[in-house]
Amino acid sequence: MIRQMRDADIPGAMRLKHAAGWNQTPSDWQRLLRLEPEGCFVAERDGLVVGSTTAVRYGSEMAWLGMVLVLPEFRRQGIARGLVQHALDWLDLRGTRTCGLDATSMGKPLYEEVGFVSTELIERWERPPEDNPSCGGRTSARSVGTLSAALERIDREACNYDRSLLLRDLCKDSTVAGASCPEGFAFGRPGSSAWFVGPCVAKNARAAASVLRATLESRQGQRVFWDFLPSNRSARELATELGFQPVRRLERMMLRGGKSPTLHSHSDEVYATAGFEFG
Ligand SMILES: CC(C)(COP(=O)(O)OP(=O)(O)OC[C@H]1O[C@@H](n2cnc3c(N)ncnc32)[C@H](O)[C@@H]1OP(=O)(O)O)[C@@H](O)C(=O)NCCC(=O)NCCS
Repeated sequence: MIRQMRDADIPGAMRLKHAAGWNQTPSDWQRLLRLEPEGCFVAERDGLVVGSTTAVRYGSEMAWLGMVLVLPEFRRQGIARGLVQHALDWLDLRGTRTCGLDATSMGKPLYEEVGFVSTELIERWERPPEDNPSCGGRTSARSVGTLSAALERIDREACNYDRSLLLRDLCKDSTVAGASCPEGFAFGRPGSSAWFVGPCVAKNARAAASVLRATLESRQGQRVFWDFLPSNRSARELATELGFQPVRRLERMMLRGGKSPTLHSHSDEVYATAGFEFG
């Protein structure tokens, strides 16, 4: 049975993500439920949550599919296919024009089957805890109530779709560097196995370096994940300079037939994505 996810399903959802070794926390699931309470789904067998997927809409232009997980002992029975199709039908009914996702090699064959095509690579880089580069930045990351309208505009121009609700939600439990900087920002939040830096969007490499250094300066000695599109060479150079190494490679995919916003966006201004489940 596929049904809408509820807050009470979060412990079951954490078991799914734990089995896959992912980094999300209960707060990440809560955020997905806050952003799209009717777009998060679980598959249930005999009262047990055995699979999940989430769809977050960014206006009517774009949606992002994530958290496609099935418990290992329930795989290859069509559960993920059912969940993904259910989420796509749900989006279709709401008139969402296109949908993206970041695919693992396990997920990719399924997504191709339902009509997604690869558009580019996305990499996870990690700074191991023993690496401890000096990151002294000019601004310090802090908690903020909201991001300025100017920064939300920078984000919208860089992505070509409207992530303002996500950014506002992230302000609740993330630190932000550059909240008063006119040229860019970087968020950071805890994960279950590593601190996660992102999203980071900046008008130029100098602003990106400043906000990312500020975000990282309070994370000395801690394991950190940073996801970005390797087509952004400045992000790659900065990650290397700050002691990060590539650890995973996924494929960014878009639903065939949808007008892919990434083709028109300023992806060179996106220095860190918001997480594989958010885009
Ligand atoms: C990827 C995952 C969600 C698939 O779940 P699932 O319920 O086993 O998938 P389904 O049974 O619906 O499979 C649908 C189709 O996807 C493809 N597929 C699924 N798992 C596959 C695998 N391990 N290798 C190759 N193809 C696979 C097949 O085409 C399959 O159809 P088939 O079984 O008729 O051959 C599951 O393996 C999982 O949780 N993996 C770890 C987390 C992950 O990587 N999630 C994807 C995030 S992008």
